[in-house]
Amino acid sequence: MKLPRKLHIKSYGCQMNVYDAQRMVDALAGEGFVETASVDDADLVILNTCHIREKASEKVYSELGRLRAVKDEAARHGRTMNIAVAGCVAQAEGSEIIRRAPVVDVVVGPQSYHHLPQLLAQAQHHGRALETEFPAEDKFGFLPPPKPETIRARGISSFVTVQEGCDKFCTFCVVPYTRGAEVSRPVTKIVDDVTRLADNGVREITLIGQNVNAYHGEGPDGRAWSLGALLYHLAEIPGVVRLRYSTSHPRDVEDTLIEAHRDLPALMPFVHLPVQSGSDRVLAAMNRRHTASDYRRVIDRFRAARQDIAFSSDFIVGFPGESEEDFSATLALVTQIGYAGAYSFKYSPRPGTPAADMREMVSAEEMDERLVRLQELIDSQQSAFNAAAIGSTVDVLFERPARNPGQIVGRTAYLQPAHVMASADIIGQVLPVKIESLERYSLLGEIAVPAHAPRPQAAVSHVTTPSMITGA
Ligand code: 5AD
Ligand code: SF4
Repeated sequence: MKLPRKLHIKSYGCQMNVYDAQRMVDALAGEGFVETASVDDADLVILNTCHIREKASEKVYSELGRLRAVKDEAARHGRTMNIAVAGCVAQAEGSEIIRRAPVVDVVVGPQSYHHLPQLLAQAQHHGRALETEFPAEDKFGFLPPPKPETIRARGISSFVTVQEGCDKFCTFCVVPYTRGAEVSRPVTKIVDDVTRLADNGVREITLIGQNVNAYHGEGPDGRAWSLGALLYHLAEIPGVVRLRYSTSHPRDVEDTLIEAHRDLPALMPFVHLPVQSGSDRVLAAMNRRHTASDYRRVIDRFRAARQDIAFSSDFIVGFPGESEEDFSATLALVTQIGYAGAYSFKYSPRPGTPAADMREMVSAEEMDERLVRLQELIDSQQSAFNAAAIGSTVDVLFERPARNPGQIVGRTAYLQPAHVMASADIIGQVLPVKIESLERYSLLGEIAVPAHAPRPQAAVSHVTTPSMITGA
């Protein structure tokens, strides 16, 4: 009998890479690969890379340096270890990766994961294989779906890609080049995926796309459906108790999406809506094609539809030409909106993007200083948001046993981790929790329904044993 081969995947960057990594595991399961957490005994190591900022991108090369030693060690023991670079660095740098790091056997761009088995075979026969085309076919049509036991092992929350690529061309961003033009998957394909996940215990679906609210996939009626229409449809699927979507662009917020937030209890009132800057001058230079006021109006539309809605965002500090006044406008916008959390980054020039040719660089010291000021403001808003939960009773979807014995951890509507002492059979259920305290970013509380009271939702029996729940 042939022994299973071991596959180790390391993902960097965004949620789409996390999802893609799972799809690569699914694609290679048919080739006899099983996943391993240890790099040392792997037969195949895939680095699923991120190109969004220079730091993320350069990590690949330091990791490849480390892997060379591991590969050499395996060879000394008579084992062959193959190394593949996938993701956005693979797409952007292609054969340059093999030139810089000859340890690499396969380079595969995000649109070609369904060709991984052939590429591995090619590498075995010819020493190397590279594919970074944007093939005409839809890779999702060729990627095998995960097996039921794999879905269960991955836990009760799952990503589903509904849209990929971006046509917005913000001047700082590599995504339109690495992920290509905006493409939406057809509604029926997404419904099939979500149904399969829900049938196997998944309770929370996060629809992902680089510009997810630009979704315009073909519906069963032959028309292009908006993200809002898709959400109404998915909310009907039995077992789906929570829906989320990420990442959105402020220009693509259609009324149906706002209405979905008003009408669908399953659609969580927490929206990631990157704005990048609060200065109209900088927003124009970034080619965001909206002003700070446009953004505020979008936020107001959401808030009018659902009063408990909260927001997170992304910010870039030190975009070329950003003055102290521009930066103050960002701080002012953050103060006005009031976020539940946000990510902020120092501007990083990316090769091939228009902003990389802009000359008016902000000094490293100024960038550092602005980043600290912005993060302090965001942190204070996040702390206040979390502290406001203390004393209230909130719905928590329970995910897995926590590190502390006897504790189960779940998430609130706003993705705050919430811990309770309970038995593992609450995993997969949404239960009201009385929040008693806050420990850093984690809420601690007690389940607010007495043990004998009927539970709001039926237990999901097949995701209840701790050994089946993996992940962070
Ligand atoms: N420099 C810094 N941050 C960037 N982002 C995208 N491109 C860059 C860049 N060149 C940030 C944006 C985006 C998030 C995913 O990463 O804030 O929303
Ligand atoms: Fe990049 Fe987002 Fe702008 Fe598209 S909308 S170019 S993904 S920052």
